[in-house]
Amino acid sequence: MATATQAGADGWTSRTAFILAAIGAAVGLGNVWRFPTLAGENGGGAFVVFYIGCVILIGLPLVLSEILIGRHGRSDAMHSVEKVASDSGVSRGWGLFGGTGILAAFLIMTFYSVVAGWVIYYIGVMGWDFVAAFFSGAPFAGALAAENPDQISSRMTDLFANWPLLLVLHAMFMVATIWIVARGVQSGIEKAATYLMPAFFVLLILITIYGAFTGNFAEAVAFMFNPDFSKLTASAMNQALGQALFSMSLASAALITYGAYVSRETKLAPTAVMIAAADTGVAIIAGLMIFPIVFAAGLDAAAGPTLVFQSLPIAFHTMPGGALVGFLFFILIFFAALTSSISLLEGVVSWCINKFGMARATAAWGVGGLMFVIGIGCALSLNVWSEFRLLPFIPNFADNNLMDTIDGFTGQVLLPVTALLTSIFVGWRADRQLVMAETGLSGGMFTLWRFLVAWLCPIAVGLILVFGLFPALL
Ligand code: PHE
Repeated sequence: MATATQAGADGWTSRTAFILAAIGAAVGLGNVWRFPTLAGENGGGAFVVFYIGCVILIGLPLVLSEILIGRHGRSDAMHSVEKVASDSGVSRGWGLFGGTGILAAFLIMTFYSVVAGWVIYYIGVMGWDFVAAFFSGAPFAGALAAENPDQISSRMTDLFANWPLLLVLHAMFMVATIWIVARGVQSGIEKAATYLMPAFFVLLILITIYGAFTGNFAEAVAFMFNPDFSKLTASAMNQALGQALFSMSLASAALITYGAYVSRETKLAPTAVMIAAADTGVAIIAGLMIFPIVFAAGLDAAAGPTLVFQSLPIAFHTMPGGALVGFLFFILIFFAALTSSISLLEGVVSWCINKFGMARATAAWGVGGLMFVIGIGCALSLNVWSEFRLLPFIPNFADNNLMDTIDGFTGQVLLPVTALLTSIFVGWRADRQLVMAETGLSGGMFTLWRFLVAWLCPIAVGLILVFGLFPALL
């Protein structure tokens, strides 16, 4: 029944709406938190160059592949793949990779929401600090002026130890996501994207300009664009490709699901280019926003996952106007995270609607509630459950707490497996005419795209899968 609802009344109202929602799905913690973290840890320039190569040669062809599956299938990720398969005269069993994508979205959301909870904490802390500074007549003070760097840095360790607070924040973020998804495509998802994404871009530009003037912009540019290829280890390449998949929301149901709401008139190829370009542009700009501030404060770019949550507040402490800018910075991350989490939830919810005939609101609260429950385990892995091991016998995960296990399993196993199957399906099994008509490409462009999907993607993604799982082979 519900397949019709997907394509029918509740689709995007315009191409712009789709583009904003898809960019909203793509631009998230992956761009503003994970990309700068990885670029910093892997030495900057060479990682960035390799990452851009992955985006153009592997990510972009897959973005187009996924949107076309959705638009043709007009349903959730699994049912859409089944439809393309049966219209191509091949086994509907290919729907399996739609299913693994949905599973990936489900698992990613469990820890994504916990990390987004940290963002809410810093919005609160920085916001309160700014208001206090403002009313005490120092609106341009640095952030957390009353604290010393050690105190600021222990805010994060204290937060991680405070599990009740982590759970409250995790719940707040989950409820916000569920509430929007429950409202539907037009009045929930589309509306959120059309307000939040423009606001996100304005903040991004403003803070980048601020960083360029008050921070060490030259050092940041050199760090990000002077490639030192000796730093490009196999593990760095592996991480870059995995990050490209994650950042563009590939292999995790989101783009197929959003593609199902796209009208027949929309030209998919230029749309895919816009999504990939915007996502990558934001990741690069996020680096140019964060590193000048980090370097100006003399901090280490390779701080790892705490870069944004521990290093940056210390940097804002010493910068003029840091109280205000720090506050705005965390609001920016929050907007990015919310438009992404909406797509993560929607990928699973639309499947439940179609599979079980559930009402949208019921599905949103049910699925979101389940994600919340598993996410509790992620929040507790930072404190009381830090010693718990889910997969103690599997070498890759033997040392990982629950949160890192879910993150690692999705990033190193589920996303590459799903992306691999997607490329094999679209490149080899799906009907050539059907695919060609959906892409709107012809001639050399079609041949090039199909070559990338059929050959480069499976080989490259297959390699990250193998080396990600068996690093000892490197
Ligand atoms: N792309 C999002 C980000 O960069 C995360 C995401 C992954 C969203 C998969 C949807 C699907 O934060």
